[in-house]
Amino acid sequence: MRLILLGPPGAGKGTQAAYLVEKYNLKQLSTGDMLRAAVASGSELGQKAGGLMERGELVPDDLVIALISERLSYADVAHGFILDGFPRTVSQAQALEKLLAEKKQPLDMVLALAVDQERLMERITKRAQESQGNVRADDNPETLKKRVAVYLEQTAPLLDFYQEVGILSVIDGMAPISEVSTQISSLLDELKA
Ligand code: AP5
Repeated sequence: MRLILLGPPGAGKGTQAAYLVEKYNLKQLSTGDMLRAAVASGSELGQKAGGLMERGELVPDDLVIALISERLSYADVAHGFILDGFPRTVSQAQALEKLLAEKKQPLDMVLALAVDQERLMERITKRAQESQGNVRADDNPETLKKRVAVYLEQTAPLLDFYQEVGILSVIDGMAPISEVSTQISSLLDELKA
């Protein structure tokens, strides 16, 4: 299965991706994790991305498209993958469509986590508290506000994009974590049937 998890910061994309990796043996491809690793390594990409991420802005499309394009060429994604945090703009989505069409591996489903934006701050604060001194540079109230604004402006249009493609499923991301997983599972089990 080839899936996208879509949703604002703190919607639960990473949490549900971890569940899907376990249950369906899929690879999680998180551009956020890849970029944080690049920042930590001090690579050229990391140097370009670090400041933007800290401010809650998006890393330029060409850089993330190149990153995901390379990652999708690895053999370990043959069984399927979950894109977590990519695409985030319409141009990223168009580049992905082209890439997967060339590989003859179309997407199966886009799972959009619908959440109450007022509650995202609580989740991010909780994650920061639980991160044992390893708090993400963008997990603070000011940057979160920016990340949500960027989501609404640049990423939310993907809901219409994938609705038109006909592969969008919207899930109640405000339900408890295990219920969100159950909702996703039943959609995926239908897909496999
Ligand atoms: P990225 O790492 O992708 O971060 P994000 O989209 O802001 O998402 P988060 O990781 O904050 O949240 P999540 O939805 O994964 O929630 P989680 O499961 O952790 O991106 C970071 C930055 O990198 C971007 O701002 C940008 O600069 C750059 N970037 C990345 N991709 C890019 C791209 N494609 N293009 C350009 N730039 C890019 O859950 C959060 C918390 O809530 C956890 O504590 C969890 O336990 C809890 N929780 C989860 N679900 C529930 C639930 N149902 N009920 C209660 N609590 C819950």
